[in-house]
Amino acid sequence: MFFFRKKSEIEKYKKLINSKKLPNHIAVIMDGNGRWAKKQGAGRLYGHRNGVESVRAIVEASVEIGLKYLTIYAFSTENWSRPEDEVKGLLKLILDSLVNEIDQMSKNNIVVRFIGTNKNLSPEYQEKIHRECEKSWNNTGLNFNIAMNYGGRLEILEAVKKIMPLIKSGEINEENICEKDIEQYLYTAGMPDPDLMIRTSGEMRLSNYLIWQSAYTELYFTNILWPDFKKEAFLKAIVDFQKRNRRFGGI
Ligand code: IPE
Ligand code: IPE
Ligand code: MG
Repeated sequence: MFFFRKKSEIEKYKKLINSKKLPNHIAVIMDGNGRWAKKQGAGRLYGHRNGVESVRAIVEASVEIGLKYLTIYAFSTENWSRPEDEVKGLLKLILDSLVNEIDQMSKNNIVVRFIGTNKNLSPEYQEKIHRECEKSWNNTGLNFNIAMNYGGRLEILEAVKKIMPLIKSGEINEENICEKDIEQYLYTAGMPDPDLMIRTSGEMRLSNYLIWQSAYTELYFTNILWPDFKKEAFLKAIVDFQKRNRRFGGI
């Protein structure tokens, strides 16, 4: 019974979505795994493992509606400050999930990329991620970015460090340096800025996520904890987004 109700809810939201006004890029802050696990009387990693199901659900929904870019926040540069067990568990879960899902994602024409810094990740880990993602790089469908070891300030700092020598060598003219020059050296170079950012679990902050790119992003907050956030909730956020009036400083 429950299953059928859910299915019809999903159909309802799908019908409400205007396919001509789809966001180009949705960014998601998957938050609340720890609190979800606590409510079940389980450890934090149990919450993270259940969160993977929600990722599968929103990736599926993104393919179904024809979204072009989806970027999820999997691990921040600040998350290294968590207990060692949790950090280890998260790194392993992220890699294992990628290995398990890459073929299915590739079959669905998804391009998978990791965005973030290499700092603090072992060369073996980086190599494994690269090898898996590469399998999807000839695809032409949904661009699925996983922000892993990602921090927005560090991203900007790393861009500045790449630009400095180009200014010194005269390749970029100091007088004419512009926003496009910076964008070109961000991890998201060539991608559209997110139109919609979703954060679960009731927290209302960006936590260093896509801070350059989200200058004009519409923010959507929900109290749902990440492991409970499924297709229906994702589609509902898009319907909400489509009702908004974006002005970009105009009138
Ligand atoms: C989000 O859930 C997942 C990551 C940050 C990796 P949390 O682990 O932050 O869960 P809460 O916020 O403690 O409930
Ligand atoms: C943001 O969530 C990072 C990810 C979702 C990967 P956090 O749970 O780490 O953020 P804060 O600490 O509540 O700001
Ligand atoms: Mg959190």
